Amino acid sequence: MDDLRRAGRSAAGLAADHLAAVPGGPVWRAVPDADRAWLTEQQLPASGRPLADLLHEIRDHVLPYPMGNGHPRFFGWVNSPPSPAGVLVAPLAAAMNPSCAGGEHAGVLLERTAVRWLAELVGYPHPPGAGLLTSGASMATVIALATARQRVFRQQGLDVRESGLYGQRPLAIYLSAEGHSCLRKAAELLGLGSRHLRTVPVDDAFRMDTAALRRLITADKEAGVRPFFVAASAGTVNTGAVDPLEEVAEIAREHGLWFHIDGAYGAFGILADEADPGYAGLGLADSLVLDPHKWLGVPVDCGCVLFRDPAGARDTFSLVPPYLRDDGSDELGWFAEYGPEQTRPFRALRVWATIAHLGHEGVGRLVRRGTELARTLAAMVDAADDFELLAPAVTSVVAFRFRGRSAAPDPSRAEALNERIPAAVQHRGRAFLTGTRLAGTAALRACILHPDTTEADLAVLLHEIRLAAAEITASETPAPGTTS
Ligand SMILES: Cc1ncc(COP(=O)(O)O)c(C=O)c1O
Repeated sequence: MDDLRRAGRSAAGLAADHLAAVPGGPVWRAVPDADRAWLTEQQLPASGRPLADLLHEIRDHVLPYPMGNGHPRFFGWVNSPPSPAGVLVAPLAAAMNPSCAGGEHAGVLLERTAVRWLAELVGYPHPPGAGLLTSGASMATVIALATARQRVFRQQGLDVRESGLYGQRPLAIYLSAEGHSCLRKAAELLGLGSRHLRTVPVDDAFRMDTAALRRLITADKEAGVRPFFVAASAGTVNTGAVDPLEEVAEIAREHGLWFHIDGAYGAFGILADEADPGYAGLGLADSLVLDPHKWLGVPVDCGCVLFRDPAGARDTFSLVPPYLRDDGSDELGWFAEYGPEQTRPFRALRVWATIAHLGHEGVGRLVRRGTELARTLAAMVDAADDFELLAPAVTSVVAFRFRGRSAAPDPSRAEALNERIPAAVQHRGRAFLTGTRLAGTAALRACILHPDTTEADLAVLLHEIRLAAAEITASETPAPGTTS
């Protein structure tokens, strides 16, 4: 243990030094060949080496090449920096190393609190046992969709766990054109068939068009397909749009559909002062998915699925072999009865520590800051004659395009340029941006999740995009005297 104590102190120092150095370094950099070889080609060691040696190797070959999301000018995808409290407690969870499948121990009991706090933060009802932590929103979505599938067949007097889907009438699932691909994966995995996934068009602000949703449901009923599940988004990945949740809830109620909300990224946006009115109705969902490893900064991995009724998930997943049978003293049973994972990590310690450190107030501040900065960036884009804002900034994502200053820009050139800009910005190392496709065109998107991002960082981002565009253009311009 003395070795671990000594090396543990060094590891804590290394982690703190790393976090302190991140803002002063490049946001991202390519891994040079020598370190790439160390990372990918090591031989299986015949004998072990001391803990202290491992730390030196991590310092030299691992820590210098982060993904970039610890940096205040990382605006890519939906990846936050780690919360300091989460970093602090992660080794303690590893030191305890429980399986949170179930049983009477701190890991399981604290998960009850972590899940309840998450529900309370976003204002979702929480009967005891109605939720669990997962690896992320993708797994949370699988659990929600499987639970809905079990319910719809139970209504027909069938246990689909036992019968499978053979010979059943197709079930239609509704998702907006901007909904996340994890629902499609879940539908494919659960044998529901992506062919029966209906893409609901969106309005000008990239929100689900509820009139179109009604039309699709009617058409399915007429065609003998059973409408079954509607997934709304509270914060889409491309633009951060919030679907009109209350209206979707009403349509789901009218037609007896399971109402699901993907709030993986954006559910916490409800805490912003000027939260989008679309959030009204969030509490009406049958299932709600959140990702504490996104806006809250809980170190990866941590998703969460919440239910209005805990019994459905247990009916879908409970399978307790004799060697796991407990004394039945906890009427909620084991977490492993509510999802596919049996051995489950102690995620709750990272969630508990992150929220306990920030408090309700601190989480609100974090969300408000990201939302305000997104509105500032949107205003900067709008005011610049070489950029074009593509969607209103309602959460902390800004979707936009680089247009350049040409009076008559060539659309195919602009398209190619916007496709190439993200990688060029990343390689310059001063900011990190990713792209997407929006309404059929190449778009840039910046997602602001870092508590230390400033307005000056936003100006650097726009400047870097201009420089990257100039670099791309210069690299394409034939040198004088050459032919193309
Ligand atoms: C809106 C939304 N839903 C679902 C997901 C999938 O989440 P995870 O990567 O945690 O599985 C993401 C990831 O970015 C997302 O933004």
